[in-house]
Amino acid sequence: MEEILTLQGKKAVITGGAKGIGKSTAVTFAKLGADSTLVDIDDAGLKETCQEIEKEGQMGYPVVADITDVKAIGDIVKSAIDKMGRIDILINNAGIAIINPVEKVTEEEWDKTLAVNLKAAFFLAQRVGRHMIQNRYGKIVNIASQAGVVALEGHLTYMASKAGLVGITKVLALEWGPHNINVNAIAPTVILTPMGEKVWAGEKGEKFLQKLPIGRFGKPEDVACLVAFLSSDISSMITGTTVMIDGGYTAT
Ligand SMILES: NC(=O)c1ccc[n+]([C@@H]2O[C@H](COP(=O)([O-])OP(=O)(O)OC[C@H]3O[C@@H](n4cnc5c(N)ncnc54)[C@H](O)[C@@H]3O)[C@@H](O)[C@H]2O)c1
Repeated sequence: MEEILTLQGKKAVITGGAKGIGKSTAVTFAKLGADSTLVDIDDAGLKETCQEIEKEGQMGYPVVADITDVKAIGDIVKSAIDKMGRIDILINNAGIAIINPVEKVTEEEWDKTLAVNLKAAFFLAQRVGRHMIQNRYGKIVNIASQAGVVALEGHLTYMASKAGLVGITKVLALEWGPHNINVNAIAPTVILTPMGEKVWAGEKGEKFLQKLPIGRFGKPEDVACLVAFLSSDISSMITGTTVMIDGGYTAT
């Protein structure tokens, strides 16, 4: 794989890198030759991910920060550039899911979910994008969800945030294509991470699994490989799209 797909010498920023998909992506990036700055609220998890990156011979830089503090985003981006010299790749991965039936959704749940999953992702892309425009090079991958493309019960606020992410991906790709910046989203089905295991525990998950043509839930590494492909130069003709990684769920 490495002979075709390489991230040799690339510098990435990955939000939510302390666990789950973000952690797996950071380690996969290291295997392919990239250094990463990891942004998360989970200090201990960040340290573990950085140790795994270093085992692969690359550098992992932890930044403990809450990305919903939009005023701090400038400092996060500046510190990544100070440490790595530049940013080639941004992975907007940090996210939360609050599951509740429509009648019970609160304003707080709405605000919190959209703040992490959509607002922070946009302002990070805006800050990093300005830097990428100067460099005339960039890859941005937004981690959306199948639940941003098709309706799932209880996923109202999550859908609003992830459908928004799918939408802004298209505008960023349109405006930044001329600057040699690719912007794509991906839409995973259930992935076995702390989030996936919590949301889909028990009978609910078993029932959902029966609807997945591929017959299994995803692993973080399944997602990390797609993110690596979209962050690499072999996918440079792909921009403004949302790639389903859903075991065939939306094909039915
Ligand atoms: N696991 C799934 O089934 C699944 C499916 C589709 C999409 N996704 C999406 O994939 C992405 C990663 O999910 P995961 O399953 O690895 O989740 P996870 O909960 O296992 O990990 C998410 C990470 O984001 C961090 N984070 C949350 N809020 C933050 C904030 N305000 N500032 C900084 N860091 C913050 C958490 O501390 C955590 O380390 C999310 O955007 C999620 O919506 C997950």
